[in-house]
Amino acid sequence: MADVFDKVDEVLAEIKSVEIADSDALEQFRIKYLGTKNIIKPLFGEIRNVPNERKKEFGQLLNSLKQEAEAKFEATKSTLSSAEGKKAASEIDLTAPNDPISRGSRHPVSIVMNRLIEVFERIGFTVAEEREIEDDWHNFTAMNTPEDHPARDMQDTFYLKNSVTRLLRTHTSSVQARVMTTEKPPIRIIAPGRVYRNETISARSHCQFHQVEGLYIDENVSFADMRQTLLYFAKEMYGPQTDIRLRPSYFPFTEPSAEMDVWMGTETETARKLTKGTGWLEVLGCGMVDPNVLENCGIDSEKYSGFAFGIGIERSAMQKYDISDIRLLFENDSRFLKQFSSVI
Ligand code: PHE
Repeated sequence: MADVFDKVDEVLAEIKSVEIADSDALEQFRIKYLGTKNIIKPLFGEIRNVPNERKKEFGQLLNSLKQEAEAKFEATKSTLSSAEGKKAASEIDLTAPNDPISRGSRHPVSIVMNRLIEVFERIGFTVAEEREIEDDWHNFTAMNTPEDHPARDMQDTFYLKNSVTRLLRTHTSSVQARVMTTEKPPIRIIAPGRVYRNETISARSHCQFHQVEGLYIDENVSFADMRQTLLYFAKEMYGPQTDIRLRPSYFPFTEPSAEMDVWMGTETETARKLTKGTGWLEVLGCGMVDPNVLENCGIDSEKYSGFAFGIGIERSAMQKYDISDIRLLFENDSRFLKQFSSVI
């Protein structure tokens, strides 16, 4: 009789003392004490040989034996798995090179445009952005462009399907009309954006390009103010030695009008090519806002005057980065764009 009690004690001592070092040993333990053919099961069969007055005691002993095995199994299982987790974590090689991240890059047009905005913001201009789909009035009529002006021709302007008034703006000057009809002077804005013209696409011209428009309206704004502002801009963009010249020109919305050239010199091959040997690079169109434009937009032309200018972006970007074909700027070929990834 003492035998079966001894046997239980023996198994209990075994369970308590066995060392389980890894998951294989744990599996052995499970099979031996908790599996379908475990060694505790046959001991339950011994109950019938135990005298009645000790049956209860024996049964409780067996149950606690079983619980002991289960508890040890669960406890060991959780310590082993957290230890394995730590081991796995310590195996991560922190010095290994990571997967290459391919960074985006700014488009050369954006680089030049942002630089330009920065230069004008410094002297109090704020950015005005407007729609690319415009109406006839803001793009042409308000800008003093007569009905029969060649710029209105279907050849140059993209009109929306089945529309004679809705069009893709042909210049950012439409933003002048937008701002002047909604804001009161003093007005000092720059308007960067994309414009469209129905032109044959070649290495030198495209049907879409970018401009930055400038507009300054206040009392007593003079041509000298304009020249000084543009000289400041040229020096900031092209360096302190830069010189400018203003040539008489014509725009329907400015009077007088001018084209501004920047001195590039004739020393370098690029400068000679871009300036067609003259040394002067044509950079922008400008002029004093025509009083008709002010009146069209509800601004008193007796009280206020102002100047405006429009800068083409693509040509500056091409000159700056030595890009020989304007089409490259619109194809979004990543091999081309990647080259600007170091520029902010
Ligand atoms: N809008 C003109 C163009 O597209 C440029 C310009 C703007 C000229 C403002 C004078 C004043 O060429």
